[in-house]
Amino acid sequence: MEVLILKISNFNKFMTILDAKEEDLDRLKSVAKSDPWLPSYHIYPECGLLNDPNGISHYNGEYHVFYQWFPFGPIHGMKHWAHVKSKDLVNWERMPVAIIPTEEYERHGAYSGNGIVKDDKVYLYYTGNIKYSEETRSANQCLAIMDKDYSIKKSSNNPLIKGIPHGYTGHVRDPKVWKAENDKYYMMLGAQRKNLTGCFIIYESIDGENWDFKGELKTSLENFGFMWECPNYMKIDDKDVFIFSPQGIEKTEHDYKNLYNVIYVIGKLDLENLTFDIEYMKELDKGFDFYAPQVFVDDNKRNLMFGWVGMPEIEYPSDKNMWAHCLTVPRELILEDNILKQKPADELKKLRMDLSEYKGTLENKALNISNNCTSYELEISLTNLNCYKTYLKLFKSDTEEFLLSFDFKESIVYIDRSTFVNTFAEKFGHIRSSKLNINEELKINIFVDNSVVEIFINDGEVAFTSRVFPLTESSDIQLSCCGNLDYQIKKYSLNKGI
Ligand code: FRU
Repeated sequence: MEVLILKISNFNKFMTILDAKEEDLDRLKSVAKSDPWLPSYHIYPECGLLNDPNGISHYNGEYHVFYQWFPFGPIHGMKHWAHVKSKDLVNWERMPVAIIPTEEYERHGAYSGNGIVKDDKVYLYYTGNIKYSEETRSANQCLAIMDKDYSIKKSSNNPLIKGIPHGYTGHVRDPKVWKAENDKYYMMLGAQRKNLTGCFIIYESIDGENWDFKGELKTSLENFGFMWECPNYMKIDDKDVFIFSPQGIEKTEHDYKNLYNVIYVIGKLDLENLTFDIEYMKELDKGFDFYAPQVFVDDNKRNLMFGWVGMPEIEYPSDKNMWAHCLTVPRELILEDNILKQKPADELKKLRMDLSEYKGTLENKALNISNNCTSYELEISLTNLNCYKTYLKLFKSDTEEFLLSFDFKESIVYIDRSTFVNTFAEKFGHIRSSKLNINEELKINIFVDNSVVEIFINDGEVAFTSRVFPLTESSDIQLSCCGNLDYQIKKYSLNKGI
């Protein structure tokens, strides 16, 4: 990895794409292109590192997704905004780089933020990151505007908000802007108080460009981690829902096992008094690699979400091939009895190609499905569950397997990636788990894409998003149980989407 990065002319961690030669990027792309772990329908970078989804919007009939991008290798260097667009949420076209951090107010990167459609344009809010040293930094809140012809211009009023309000460290970032029912605009930012605890702060504006500091949002999570990143706010039915990425929270038996985590909270937001009364909160995704998701509402009024399939500060086996990470598939968020369910967007069905079906009764004997497809979807229904444990193995060979197991007595579901030869993030453990309501039917929907696996159980009541780096021979599927059950399995090979 080191060697390839250093071969780029004039490499430094804070260079922009304008400082590089075309052939340097082509070289990096050609290394990445030969990697068999590269996804085929998840949004991924052609080279370099992708992290948070940004600025997602549905505009003039097209979906626009931006993402944090460091072009020159699998490290967190100078962040640009890369851009892809799609008419149907599944077939993506790469667009020119959207934001290149060339200005003084963003001199160490164009960090995350969201997008809103306003005056027939897309307003892209982001944080201009400023680093004085490893420990000290500042932040400016900025705007770039995309027009109908896809041209993107930074606002001449940048930075819209200069620096940090009193009482907070330099960790203030990731604007979430929305227009409220009172016709005013609000900007919520992830922040760190001077006492090193995380929170949200709120600005208000009448035009989306001139902002006044309103103050800190009061919640009952007074002392919950050292920093809150990537706030999202949405209204579903009459409930207010926040999704955010707190750092530094304690792990519990089933929760918060990753380095950093994502939670959702449901309750009542009062923007006048700056309070959020929390009724319910839960970890959003129980997999190994899920962070910094972003939510948006599309023209069909669906609450949709993309997440980053990755984790900061961890080296991944594909790093040696000069690219890192991808986004999740688009997921629709549905609120039912205070559970925020995540349902893969219906449009994903368009990717389906060949179908193989398996149906029968399993009685103390495994069902083995030999599989040589590396990008596929499984739709599984298990009924007549006369068993206390069920095991589904993916990426299976003599040496490796990704194990999804259900303990019906304890009502717990587990994933386990401990057998993989290409192991990583070992210090955070190889098993994740979640409590699960088990009814008469167990429904499992799985999306596999070379080195990505997304699992949705019981219509998205529990989701697990993970990376795995299997050997080429590890691709079979096996279902087994202690006892008996009836199964119905549909396997679709999936087309390329990007
Ligand atoms: C989350 C995050 C954001 C920040 C961005 C920088 O992964 O740390 O808070 O804006 O990544 O790339």
